Amino acid sequence: MGLSRCNNTTDFRALAKRRLPAPLFHYIDGAADDEKTLARNTDAFDDVRLVPDGLADLSSMDFSTTVLGQKIDWPFFLSPTAMSRLFHHDGEQAVARAAHKFGTMYSLSTLSTESIETIGTLTPGPKCFQIYIHKDRGMTNAFVDRCKAADFSALCLTIDTLVAGNRERDLVTGMTVPPALTPRSLFSFATHPDWAYHYLTSRKFELANVSGQIDEGTDSLSSIIQYLSNQFDRSITWKDAEELIQRWGGPFAIKGIMSVGDAIKARDAGASAIMVSNHGGRQLDGCVSPFDVLGGIVDAVGDDVEVILDSGIRRGTHVLKAIAMGATACMMGRGYLYALAAAGQPGVERALERMTAEIERNMILMGCSSLSQLDRSKLQQGAVMAG
Ligand code: FNR
Ligand code: LAC
Repeated sequence: MGLSRCNNTTDFRALAKRRLPAPLFHYIDGAADDEKTLARNTDAFDDVRLVPDGLADLSSMDFSTTVLGQKIDWPFFLSPTAMSRLFHHDGEQAVARAAHKFGTMYSLSTLSTESIETIGTLTPGPKCFQIYIHKDRGMTNAFVDRCKAADFSALCLTIDTLVAGNRERDLVTGMTVPPALTPRSLFSFATHPDWAYHYLTSRKFELANVSGQIDEGTDSLSSIIQYLSNQFDRSITWKDAEELIQRWGGPFAIKGIMSVGDAIKARDAGASAIMVSNHGGRQLDGCVSPFDVLGGIVDAVGDDVEVILDSGIRRGTHVLKAIAMGATACMMGRGYLYALAAAGQPGVERALERMTAEIERNMILMGCSSLSQLDRSKLQQGAVMAG
């Protein structure tokens, strides 16, 4: 199966699985413990059903929304994800270019393999930088200054990763950062010569934003996991978030909010947006799923902050359901990572093309010409009545 046969996330996933050495595929695909939350994140959307209207004059359609001070053409954008050049040699650059082409926002991870400065000048499109509060506050503050200088549109602070989740697939595959030639991984690399060729002949792996400043995770560490545990400050509180928001002084999101209480605290700390996210099920297994808590969070803070749903998005209808429930926009991670691994920038573009086509088609089928027409009257919630 080639790229032209990939029509949905399941297809991109299958192609990524073929193209990537096993440790890398499972690092993307896997999640914490028994992966219950990973499954629930997407299954949660099945608990509500869309209620369409007809004959609604759809002669002009508008799918745009404004998030973090930026107008984007579609109600979804790309979640920050670590180390994209491991999955395809064009890495973050491929994804950022594709996002710009589709008029949406790219988010760059602190743990990226391209620097803030490279991505900042790559496209004129909107960009969000995902930040962690490091023990070294000088380094955290330097990220803020670098993002200002590189013209990033917004920052998002991830709060659900003080320690890495228990990703047991990585233990089985022997995933290391960067990939190491061990007897266990050798077979997998040898059977993926295309990937191995590009990995060995392209620029050396580095965590571009942090290399030179700290050793962990940048050369020989068993994994990124130790980076998280060693570098991230477990003593941080809402006060630190507030200080960071003030230091940045622009659109700011807090990523990893899962309760009404935290949503209120984020608003009160001065965040302009919250990202309702459980990190794609990669952190706390058994955690509630974003779509399950979205309505309550929107009711509590939806007039004051933008509410962005992240984790579990695989289909255009998932985006429509989240918007109808009151989200401003959605984000997706694996939805574009599989496509990157499958075919680089053309892969990501095809994934975005499929997603935007699904949104457009389903908006027409719903009888909605703009996102504002998608509200809870368009959702059937609760158990389906028999008969
Ligand atoms: C992530 N995610 C993530 N989040 C973050 O804040 N910083 C990061 O560096 C990463 N890295 C990362 C790597 C990989 C391989 C994945 C799959 C995810 C989480 C990401 O931003 C997002 O929350 C999830 O991917 C959303 O779930 P879905 O869309 O993958 O179901
Ligand atoms: C992950 C970290 C890097 O989810 O956020 O793998």
